[in-house]
Amino acid sequence: MSDTIYIKSKSEIEIMREAAKIAAGARSMGRQAVRDGLTTRQIDKAVHEYIVKSGAKPSCLGYAGFPAATCVSVNEQVIHGIPGRRVVRNGDIVSVDLCATYKGFVGDCAGTYPCGEVSEEAQKLITVTRAAFFEALHFARVGYRIADIGGAVQDYVEQNGFSVVRDFVGHGIGRSMHEAPEVPNYRPERARHNPRLVKGMTICIEPMVCAGDWHVEILDDDWTVVTQDGSLAAHYENTILITDGEPEILTMADDI
Ligand code: MF3
Ligand code: CO
Repeated sequence: MSDTIYIKSKSEIEIMREAAKIAAGARSMGRQAVRDGLTTRQIDKAVHEYIVKSGAKPSCLGYAGFPAATCVSVNEQVIHGIPGRRVVRNGDIVSVDLCATYKGFVGDCAGTYPCGEVSEEAQKLITVTRAAFFEALHFARVGYRIADIGGAVQDYVEQNGFSVVRDFVGHGIGRSMHEAPEVPNYRPERARHNPRLVKGMTICIEPMVCAGDWHVEILDDDWTVVTQDGSLAAHYENTILITDGEPEILTMADDI
């Protein structure tokens, strides 16, 4: 990945807004498909159809060989779950992560949703992961640096007794799904990972949180990231725009 941080022009931001809106709508479809008895493939289908119907392309499909439009990750699966025949059951928590490309720009968002009644711990994990994003958002402003975002996520998550994944990070976004800078969910040690935030930057802040220890591993399918200790994990992501005031959440919808 190039180190160049692309600052978006007004017209590019207009298109980013449209791409992100489609991604947010697709996430809502995924959320609604988290139901007892449906397979992860059916969740992917709902997302995929919405993206295509909106005139966009599912950016994850074929990305580095990923075989679907949606990453669907259940329980101890953190990210990059491959949709398939697995049936989602009451008590499961399901992470839905997708990207939509529209007129050459990408919107990216994710969320973890409960299927029916889930344990108190699972519900707390979902709530804390989402709230960690909003904690970080206070620092998504001109005058702060990338490390302030990661620091806010890490502090909030750890105060709540959970841990943040180190091996995967958020990212800049634009014409590519992944652009500079990296946006870790922890305070990075090296200063070169700590650029200043500038008006016109578009980035994805995406807390990945484990109920237990933060170490993860990749399954034999070469994609699915799971917690090493088998503890539950959750994910929440939005594409945001740095402005000269409040950050704008480009992938926001009322129901997430
Ligand atoms: N939405 C994910 C991200 O943040 C990307 C999914 S990985 C893919 O970065 F390979 F499936 F595209
Ligand atoms: Co992302």
